[in-house]
Amino acid sequence: MHALTRHVPASFAHALSATPPDPPIDVALARAQHAAYRAALAACGAAVTAIDADEACPDCVFVEDTAVVAGGIALVTRPGAPSRRGETPPVARALARHVDLAWMDAPATLDGGDCLRVGRTIYAGRSARTNAAGIARLAEVFADHTVVAVDLPPHVLHLKCVCSPLGDGRILLAEGTLAPELFAPHAIVWVPAAEAYAANAVALGRHVVVADGHPRTREALEAAGFTTHAVAHSEVRKADGSLTCQSILVTDVTGT
Ligand code: GLY
Repeated sequence: MHALTRHVPASFAHALSATPPDPPIDVALARAQHAAYRAALAACGAAVTAIDADEACPDCVFVEDTAVVAGGIALVTRPGAPSRRGETPPVARALARHVDLAWMDAPATLDGGDCLRVGRTIYAGRSARTNAAGIARLAEVFADHTVVAVDLPPHVLHLKCVCSPLGDGRILLAEGTLAPELFAPHAIVWVPAAEAYAANAVALGRHVVVADGHPRTREALEAAGFTTHAVAHSEVRKADGSLTCQSILVTDVTGT
């Protein structure tokens, strides 16, 4: 399994955020936290690579939004935030070493953070970043999957802000956000509402990288049979980011 990441630019201090962070983003700390995140992915067995940062793209560390990968294909997205559209070309070049590429044209928009794949199903959040044309293109490219559109609770940036796929077909879901029936027949591992941020976690097989400071979520995951790896996240959180946002997981066509 490859985990594609991207380094943190100095301009990350000016990344998109619904609320201006106070205190502001500490770029040096963000870089240290990103290094620890990459190390955690490697500890889970991933081959981790990192693309150079682009100072013209303050949000480029959030590489997940730029592509959706499944079944040997990467759909390079057209991110919903216009300021983020320059992020895609280097990611596409890196992904092309592993999988075939597909593309998305205007007026379609889609952020990878709105896409949750489990087995042959891809759940796609309808959000301020992902429109109907984007979801239609997703369904066209991944025609061998079932694409299920999901309405998000108010003020939720991306689908995966409230849920993420686990390595065994189950889904990690924050209480009080989405109805579990949406994901049937996939079983749920619940995140308590008070720890909702931790519903965004990166699963690699039986390992899960989870946001630190969320002990009940770690307990729930450990009870469900997973080994957890906690990482600091304060600086990406200031930019409305979390853990899955910082990587694209790729099983390449040779199965490595
Ligand atoms: N700062 C991440 C985003 O808004 O896309």
